[in-house]
Amino acid sequence: MAVKSTQVAIIGSGPAGLMLAQLLHLSGVECIILERQTRSHVEGRIRAGVLEHGSVEALRDAGVADRLNLEGLVHDGVELAFEGDRHRICLKELTGKSVTVYGQTEVTRDLIEARLAAGGEIVFEAEDVTPVDVTSAQPKVKYTHNGQDLEVACDFIAGCDGFHGVSRKTIPENVRSEFERVYPFGWLGILAEVPPVADELIYANGDRGFALCSMRSTTRSRYYIQCPRDENLDDWPDDAIWDELALRIGPDTAANLTRGPSIEKSIAPLRSYVCEPMRYGNLFLAGDAAHIVPPTGAKGLNLAIADVRLLHRGFERWYRNNTADGLDTYSTSALARVWKAERFSWYLSTMMHQFPDHNPFERRMQRAEFDYVRSSQAASRAIAENYVGLPLD
Ligand code: APR
Ligand code: PHB
Repeated sequence: MAVKSTQVAIIGSGPAGLMLAQLLHLSGVECIILERQTRSHVEGRIRAGVLEHGSVEALRDAGVADRLNLEGLVHDGVELAFEGDRHRICLKELTGKSVTVYGQTEVTRDLIEARLAAGGEIVFEAEDVTPVDVTSAQPKVKYTHNGQDLEVACDFIAGCDGFHGVSRKTIPENVRSEFERVYPFGWLGILAEVPPVADELIYANGDRGFALCSMRSTTRSRYYIQCPRDENLDDWPDDAIWDELALRIGPDTAANLTRGPSIEKSIAPLRSYVCEPMRYGNLFLAGDAAHIVPPTGAKGLNLAIADVRLLHRGFERWYRNNTADGLDTYSTSALARVWKAERFSWYLSTMMHQFPDHNPFERRMQRAEFDYVRSSQAASRAIAENYVGLPLD
């Protein structure tokens, strides 16, 4: 069997794996990325598009922000709407910070380009990727590529292979704890080459369900509507989505809505999930491999970036300063931040959706929550500081 060797073997070339590879490259630490899918598949996935202040800084520090600096849309506010009542969360005024609208697809493309330009390796279409001997000082990752059985010998494995990856499952069940909430609905998303309905994002809750108006650029819009978990996409021709969206955002906003043919449509279920710990021996989990947030608040990509910044610090201290302290604290430090983002995503999801199982008391609680946020600068600031992103430590 052909054996390669490296310092860090990274499983998965989503934003977590790619960003970690870029940070390691800048620190002079060698790594190899093993990715199950093709490059075009990875670059074609459509996901959320809001970068926290700290994520933008991290991408800049990592030298991968040329296009982000040119094309990213800086947003100083975001709107919440409840049964037609509107409230702007003034991000900049309340926190001094903004968010940047820039698609995860673009972040992924920029990171892949940077890695390949630096001569770094990404093995696309790696099959049967399997971490081995992860609790030993010589862990390995076995895989098959072009019909050949291969192995990467390494010091550490970074499991950046998303929710359905193999890394988390390598941690024995008696070692890991899982925490989960599955929401009784999904989001039906539509992407279209039409100007956005408003300059800022709008999260709207009304009796027909949640809707989100987002964008990818000044000419490309991304909209979502809450739908049943088991909804069939075939039941939603474009016109039906536009009609439903217009009803949910209300006549004033809908008056500015431009419709157009969908470029992409998809349904995503909503889930909150955390796996503890995020380390097992010399295997470290980062990003969706360790946790999932519902998309309300767009924390998924941002959490992945925060995780790998912490993990990179741990590796850097190991290789430069010969100390394991950053690796030893990684799981605890990462989880402390993860849980806060879980709380915020759960909170915003809970306030902004129609829950089929809610009783009238719970509906009144949602209304009271919105009214409180609208009337209180402190409550609005709490939303704002979470939305622009909590500090890394
Ligand atoms: N072997 C190799 N690669 C794998 C395997 C496997 N067994 N399983 C999954 N992968 C790859 C996937 O094909 C994907 O490219 O791992 C990558 C994981 O990427 P993401 O799912 O994007 O996860 P992550 O990098 O943690 O980024 C988190 O992505 O899912 C969104 O909302 C989420 O925005 C968040 C971000
Ligand atoms: C998106 O643009 O896809 C998006 C924006 C904000 C969210 C979720 C998704 O909270």
